[in-house]
Amino acid sequence: MNPLQQDANYILNTYKRLPIVVKKAKGSYIYDDKGKRYLDMYAGIAVNSVGHLHPRVKHAIHHQLKKHMHLSNYFVTEAQNELAKRLVEYSFASKVFFTNSGTEAIEASFKLARKYGKSIHQEKIEVIALHESFHGRTMGGLSLTGQPKYQEPFSPLIPGVIHIERNNIEAIRHAVSEKTCAIFLEMVQGESGIHPLSDAFIDEIIALKEKYHFLIIADEVQTGLMRTGKMFAYQHTTLIPDVLSLAKSLGGGLPLGAMLVSKRLENVLKPGDHGSTFGGNPVSCAAGLATFKILSSSGFQNELLAKSNILMRGLFEIQKESQMIQEIRGKGMMIGIEIKGDAEAIKQKALNSGILLNVTHQNVIRLLPPLTITMQEIKHFLHVFKTILAT
Ligand SMILES: Cc1ncc(COP(=O)(O)O)c(C=O)c1O
Repeated sequence: MNPLQQDANYILNTYKRLPIVVKKAKGSYIYDDKGKRYLDMYAGIAVNSVGHLHPRVKHAIHHQLKKHMHLSNYFVTEAQNELAKRLVEYSFASKVFFTNSGTEAIEASFKLARKYGKSIHQEKIEVIALHESFHGRTMGGLSLTGQPKYQEPFSPLIPGVIHIERNNIEAIRHAVSEKTCAIFLEMVQGESGIHPLSDAFIDEIIALKEKYHFLIIADEVQTGLMRTGKMFAYQHTTLIPDVLSLAKSLGGGLPLGAMLVSKRLENVLKPGDHGSTFGGNPVSCAAGLATFKILSSSGFQNELLAKSNILMRGLFEIQKESQMIQEIRGKGMMIGIEIKGDAEAIKQKALNSGILLNVTHQNVIRLLPPLTITMQEIKHFLHVFKTILAT
């Protein structure tokens, strides 16, 4: 049976599938069963940051499989230790808790925030999050996600979450109180169409934290690990988070998430407070470690920034000539192109021309290419994109 038909028969209908059957994927490309090649401009939704099946990641997985695959969290493993050590060395954090996904990293952060708040006083349990945020699909993540279209079918959600408008200083001043235990932030909102937080808003949050002693929790599931041109997106600003959530590219293509915490929060969660059977799986951690070594290797960042400049400049050039582009936003290799017309039609034309595009929030083309994309591949994308917008 045709795999697309089989999928329709047996898999729950929660995803909009693309009408292609993938045979293999390598580097920046996906190949279908008819031999057609597609340039992947969203990298498994920001997961394949070093491209598909990078040889060093494959090698690390094979190497780990010679040792063991799953032991349980009763055992320490070298792969977990080595990856955690690097996450700590490159960030504000002093310790790491591993999960399997982004939403689980958010759940862990939510629980830590509530326990931290209650350690100060019993009513310090309120959490602030932003409109148009996206923090995942489990009930905790969904309660934080400031988008009614995702929340309403599943309410009632977890109480004590207040949503305010992004970059609205009056709103944050009004919402924060002694009851606030945490504020969750995406430094650049991803799913809602690539919206960076303003410096003034960030400064206000830092000032309010001094007075009210809440935790700043950076959801860097999408922005983390060089996506925006720095290892972590908070490093573009003066903000130092207390907690940071990671996932997506952390496992180099395998499921892995993490919660990073600062020194003073190391002992909030005690043995038994939180856990996960698969969290920090050794094979995922080995793949993640190999990926991290590539992302942090000498010259990687400069090359990434140079490529991002070429991509951004090319897009601004296209905008000058096209009536179709409303706005271009973003940092590094996390770019939103807000379209005036029908973004889905552009996505379809791109697919026909061998380019995979992701559309989010109806009218925003979200570019999240592999960070290893070459200059030549970027130029090819720009050429095809320009042609598509002109037709
Ligand atoms: C900022 C952010 N947080 C959390 C999540 C949820 O991650 P996951 O799908 O791994 O549960 C996502 C996923 O897109 C995300 O972009």
